[in-house]
Amino acid sequence: MDLHLDIELGEHAGPGRRAALERALREAIQDGRLPPDTRLPSTRALAAELRLARGTVSAAYDQLAAEGYLLARTGSGTVVAGRQAPAVRSSRVPGPARPRFDLRPGTPDGSAFPAEAWLRATRKVLATTPGEAYGYGEPEGRIELRAGLAAYLGRARGVLADPGQIVVTSGYVQALSLLAGLFAGQRVAMEDPCLGFHRDVVRRAGAEVVPLPADERGARTDLLTGDVRAVVLTPAHQYPTGVTLHPERRHAVAEWARRHGGLVIEDDYDGEFRYDRQPVGAVQGMAPGHVAYAGTASKTLGPALRLGWLVLPGHLLGPVLDAKRHADLHTEHIGQLVLAELIASHGYDRNIRAARLRYRRRRDLLIGRLGERYRIGGVSAGLHALLHLPSGGPAEEDILAVAAAHDLAIGTLGEHWHTPGEHPAGVIIGYGTPSETRYREALPVLEKVLASVH
Ligand SMILES: Cc1ncc(COP(=O)(O)O)c(C=O)c1O
Repeated sequence: MDLHLDIELGEHAGPGRRAALERALREAIQDGRLPPDTRLPSTRALAAELRLARGTVSAAYDQLAAEGYLLARTGSGTVVAGRQAPAVRSSRVPGPARPRFDLRPGTPDGSAFPAEAWLRATRKVLATTPGEAYGYGEPEGRIELRAGLAAYLGRARGVLADPGQIVVTSGYVQALSLLAGLFAGQRVAMEDPCLGFHRDVVRRAGAEVVPLPADERGARTDLLTGDVRAVVLTPAHQYPTGVTLHPERRHAVAEWARRHGGLVIEDDYDGEFRYDRQPVGAVQGMAPGHVAYAGTASKTLGPALRLGWLVLPGHLLGPVLDAKRHADLHTEHIGQLVLAELIASHGYDRNIRAARLRYRRRRDLLIGRLGERYRIGGVSAGLHALLHLPSGGPAEEDILAVAAAHDLAIGTLGEHWHTPGEHPAGVIIGYGTPSETRYREALPVLEKVLASVH
């Protein structure tokens, strides 16, 4: 245990040293640097570190225990007692209040994270990983993970990938940011509607965002022109409408890229979760020289891992690696190695299969409850669906307000358009969260909310 104390012992001698140590500990406890339950170093260790007699440290600990700052626990050493630092405790900001029924899209069920499998893989990795892995690495990421991903993406997503073309990133958002930076000052098309945050990421990287409308066949790739240098697409499951890119549109985008030398940035964020049909392969497989394929562990495992990957055409490898190196040198190694182990042991596939069944059941419950009264789109894949609102029906904000009064949170289509104005209305229902029981409780509440505004 490493303990930093603001303590000047040099000028003190004898009892002065003990008093200086007591003061330093007291201050650290009072201002919260040593919060309740923190275990202090043993008297022997602290004495050695501060070059004090062990008896001096023991006497200081005893004094602070007598004052109620410390507790001596038999067998577990000395810990900071619980009653101090009210100022610090009250200044701790509570997190935003979570609604009781959270059906906002974007997050998988955290309570279903495969903790056991992750732990097993972590143990194995830590027991076998060479010391070199704890040092600096290369911007492309660990070869163990890139090799595992190349095989996995080929078999599960139809992506043509060699480990040498893969760059491990801190989630999709970093992949998008690195790529967009290559198009600073140039036009990058993004689906309309799409995630506003991703539009901001592309703009901040210096590119000019142009809207590409999406309809019931997905993005209007037939409208792409030669002045656009790159297009960001969600072909497997358009975000947020949930439409799968029609084969004609897939061909159109591959053709546009070949003819104009444009780049397709393929965001395959939830391509693993396909329910009704055979998985739809990645567009990358059709035009590997023109597509930067991006995947993420955010839906299959959890966004907290911040693990994503790019499969790049050869000419982009150098520029993206240069950008990645200057962004953060490389993504942290241990998570990469654990994910690599999970893929190699097929634990990753097993988890996806189990999650697919769970989410499919949740989706069926949603359709079973609302499918007859409402038009629900995007249900063949992913973790969210779009409930279309009839024109002249209730406004999205009215539904949100009634939902909030019932402690229910959902998303709206409205927040995803490039420009405000007249647009079709809809609400987005995420079924990745909450936990199983809470989800079942949430559906009747959602039904009641919708019925009360119609
Ligand atoms: C459209 C879309 N793409 C990608 C992602 C994943 O992003 P990240 O890997 O940065 O978590 C999300 C997450 O919600 C998303 O909605």
